[in-house]
Amino acid sequence: MKLKAEQPDPFLLDARSKRMVEELDPNRMPRHIAVIMDGNGRWAQRRHLPRVAGHRAGIEAVRDTVEMSRWLNIEALTLYAFSKENWKRPKSEVSVLMRLLREYLHKELARLNRNNIRFQVLGRMDDLPALVQKDLVYGREETRNNTGMIFNVALNYGGRAELVDAFKRLAVRMRTNGLDLDQLNESDIEGELYTAGLPDPDLLIRTSGEMRVSNFLLWQIAYAEIWVTPVLWPDFRRQHLLEGIIEFQKRERRYGGLQA
Ligand code: IPE
Ligand code: IPE
Ligand code: MG
Repeated sequence: MKLKAEQPDPFLLDARSKRMVEELDPNRMPRHIAVIMDGNGRWAQRRHLPRVAGHRAGIEAVRDTVEMSRWLNIEALTLYAFSKENWKRPKSEVSVLMRLLREYLHKELARLNRNNIRFQVLGRMDDLPALVQKDLVYGREETRNNTGMIFNVALNYGGRAELVDAFKRLAVRMRTNGLDLDQLNESDIEGELYTAGLPDPDLLIRTSGEMRVSNFLLWQIAYAEIWVTPVLWPDFRRQHLLEGIIEFQKRERRYGGLQA
């Protein structure tokens, strides 16, 4: 991929990342990248720090990943920040996570706008603390006209919960004769998901070496290429993202068909 003279942000690339960018095939870029950001707790434990220090350190990785994705002209980036199941964690950890999220929004909103990035939330927003909801809505509204990249944060997100929500809405439409059961198809279901209108993720990245999807985008990852890196989320930087995309470009996507 050729480096463009004009980039959305004066974003400096180190020599190694530059070489990696040049290795990319511009015709085989993923449209949508989804990331399970994992390993914050282990990152902190290894340094004899409290787990929340790992969450705080993870913010830098978020910033770098968002800006590198934008720089590469990725259409959509989805980061898994808090699952519906993460409420099981100690209250103190959950409240720090919520506080960090608000801090991130306050600090980054201007940069998101400058980089023409549209911020959105995937998940059951109603169950989040009121102040968090207020900031999320503000962030969403303030960036709604941006056209450069869609940046989704999955919050209080569960893949099964998303499907339950979608089926409920479909049932209501059927009851009110807005939808015929015999006509029900995959796009009707897609249209009711939190991700309606977005392409499915082409590349799913999970950090920290865990080989599972942890209830993330269950419907949407049907044919995603999965790349797991041992790097812990707070250490994840642009060169790791590039490594994932380079690996993605080596894969052969058959969608059940035969080799081209
Ligand atoms: C990912 O890191 C962040 C969230 C799930 C909120 P973890 O907190 O899961 O870190 P590990 O897996 O315990 O190392
Ligand atoms: C998945 O990580 C959720 C997020 C990254 C937000 P977890 O750490 O919660 O997943 P499990 O418990 O290891 O499956
Ligand atoms: Mg984890």
